[in-house]
Amino acid sequence: MGRVEGQELISLSDAKLRDVWERMQWENVRAPEAMTERGWYHILYREFLSGKRILDIGSGLAISGLTFMQDCPGSTFVFADIVETNLEIVKRISDILGLQNRASFHLIEDAASVGKLPGPFDVVMGLGSLHNAPAHIMEPELKALKAQLKPGGRWLQLAYPEHRWRRDGSPSFTEWGIMTDGPNTPWCEWVSMDSLLSMLGADDFDPVLYYEWHNREFNWLDLKKRG
Ligand SMILES: C[S@@+](CC[C@H](N)C(=O)[O-])C[C@H]1O[C@@H](n2cnc3c(N)ncnc32)[C@H](O)[C@@H]1O
Repeated sequence: MGRVEGQELISLSDAKLRDVWERMQWENVRAPEAMTERGWYHILYREFLSGKRILDIGSGLAISGLTFMQDCPGSTFVFADIVETNLEIVKRISDILGLQNRASFHLIEDAASVGKLPGPFDVVMGLGSLHNAPAHIMEPELKALKAQLKPGGRWLQLAYPEHRWRRDGSPSFTEWGIMTDGPNTPWCEWVSMDSLLSMLGADDFDPVLYYEWHNREFNWLDLKKRG
C-alpha cells in the first residue's frame, strides 16, 4: 500500500486497475475463504453503515471502504490518507465503480489537517492504519479524529493484539513493524481496548465490541462516543 506499489498502480489503464483492485477485493473480502480474514466484518456492519456518513482514515487502497460503499446504500465516505498516491488511486477506482457521487478525499499532513476534515461523521474507521507510529505521536491525530465524531458515533478500528506481539517474541516496535507489515514499515505497536481508551479518553467512549480473530493475529475494536 506504500508509495512504490501506488506508483505502479497509478500508471495502469482503467481496465487493468479495475482488474487488479477487484482481484484484491475478491481475495480479501468477497471470496468464501476470505470470510474468516476480513469478510466477516463486512457482513456484520453492512446494515449499520447504510445511510451513514463515514470517515475512512488511512484508507490505503480502500478495499474495505469501497466495498462498504458498494454494499451499504446511502453511505457517504471521506477517504483520508497520508499518502497522496493512495488517494489518487482510490478516487480513480471510485470513478470506475460509479461511486464518485458519494466519495470525497482528504490528504492528512498532520493533526491540524484532521481538523479540516468535513465532519462531523457518524463513524470513524481506521482499518490497519492507526498503529504505525508511537502512541504519543498518534495521540494528537486520534484526539483530532475524536472531535470529528458525532456524539453517539462509532469508532471502528482494526489492529494487532498484544498476544500476537508476545507470540512473536516481544520484539521492539521498530522490528515488529517489519515483521507485521513488511520492510518499509517504520513501527507497529499493539492496540488493546484499554490502550485505545487511554488515548481517546476513557470518559468519552463506551466499548461495544472487542474481538481477536484469525489465530489472534488481528483485533477489532468498536467503541461508541458518549454524548
Ligand atoms: C495497511 S494500510 C490499510 C489500508 C486500508 N485501511 C485497508 O483496510 O485496506 C495502512 C494505510 O494507513 C495509512 N496511514 C499510516 N499512518 C497513518 C496516519 N497516521 N494517518 C492516516 N493514515 C495513515 C498508510 O498510508 C496506508 O495507506
